[in-house]
Amino acid sequence: MRSLLVTGLAFITAAFAQSAAVDAWLATQSPIAKAGVIANIGPIGSKSSGALAGIVIASPSTSNPDYLYTWTRDAALVYKALIDQYTRGEDTSPSLRLLIDQFVESQRIQQQVSNPSGTVSSGGLGEPKFHINLAPYTGGWGRPQRDGPALRATALTTYANWLIQNSNTSFVTSNVWPVLKLDLDYVASNWNQTGFDLWEEVSSSSYFTTAAQHRALREGAALASAIGQTSVVSGYTTQADNTLCFMQSYWNPSAGYMTANTGGGRSGRDANAMLSSNHNFDAAAVCDSVTFQPCSDKALSNLKVYVDSFRSIYAINSGIPSNAAVATGRYPEDSYYGGNPWYLTTTAVSEQLYNALTVWEQQGTLNHQHDFHDPHGRHPELR
Ligand SMILES: *[C@@H]1O[C@H](CO)[C@@H](O)[C@H](O)[C@H]1NC(C)=O
Ligand SMILES: *[C@@H]1O[C@H](CO)[C@@H](O)[C@H](O)[C@H]1NC(C)=O
Repeated sequence: MRSLLVTGLAFITAAFAQSAAVDAWLATQSPIAKAGVIANIGPIGSKSSGALAGIVIASPSTSNPDYLYTWTRDAALVYKALIDQYTRGEDTSPSLRLLIDQFVESQRIQQQVSNPSGTVSSGGLGEPKFHINLAPYTGGWGRPQRDGPALRATALTTYANWLIQNSNTSFVTSNVWPVLKLDLDYVASNWNQTGFDLWEEVSSSSYFTTAAQHRALREGAALASAIGQTSVVSGYTTQADNTLCFMQSYWNPSAGYMTANTGGGRSGRDANAMLSSNHNFDAAAVCDSVTFQPCSDKALSNLKVYVDSFRSIYAINSGIPSNAAVATGRYPEDSYYGGNPWYLTTTAVSEQLYNALTVWEQQGTLNHQHDFHDPHGRHPELR
């Protein structure tokens, strides 16, 4: 029998070997993945022919399924990742800056396109998808989807904050804020209305949507204050408080998970909530469960319930011990194209765990930190 010390050393050696393998893989894969993303952005992306400048296509595929459209949600999330890279200094190339400026301009145009959800001032911002030349999509669809304007606001707020820090507030006021304000006004006025969820299937209230709206309003209020747009600050703050309160109502206390949708007739175990935890990750908020931080007791309990729901339903997971990692999908009841495990959700599980590890390493303990008691449950960083 090996001694504990030998076992421990073997574990540490294996962990280091694994971490070196991950670093090497990331170094090779990241540029390939990024080139793939940029290939799907007009006008010059190799897969995006026909897309206007700054428009992200979902896929060049035109049949089975037909995905040659631009989705507000997906485009915002793609650009959020690109803007994060630019503003963190990971890629400061002028070509990326140009792509970001083209996004701002393309979304200014898209917001004004009248569509089946309405006009810019009567609900049209909740329209989920458009043709890649920004003509409205007039076929039947699950509309509206109210996470799109919130996610776009978050991407644009990150860029705006960077511009302010880099002495370019005038560009924020003239070009970014007018687009942002329309989205924030839409979120502030409509968060308490139902809409379709991120998978475009269930019409009700949805945790991912509410969580995205909370982040957008909280950050939007801070930005408005920073650029002197004081008239909207208290309205956005009030609605941010209300969305944060509403987020708590999705929790299922007996089963220990965040119910994805208020409707839909499913169990409610869904990647929806885990993706929300990653979207709203803020290392400064430590393990706050009110904002569902990745290392919070609630988010970790939710993660376990979600992952366990796929152990017995996917053949690829059969025979894997109950304490080992498995492949996950959108939600266990999924039947779209047969309802399969998905790389995107499986890697998002590891993203939540990495986010949690970041905080645990920073605070030097696994214990939950009860460091604030605000009546609204808000962390100082998110006030
Ligand atoms: C501000 O940002 C815009 C958009 O990228 C750019 O065109 C402009 O040159 C910038 N102005 C300054 C003073 O940096
Ligand atoms: C509106 O907000 C109230 C208070 O949080 C909540 O009870 C209700 O379910 C919400 N409705 C929708 C459709 O968001």
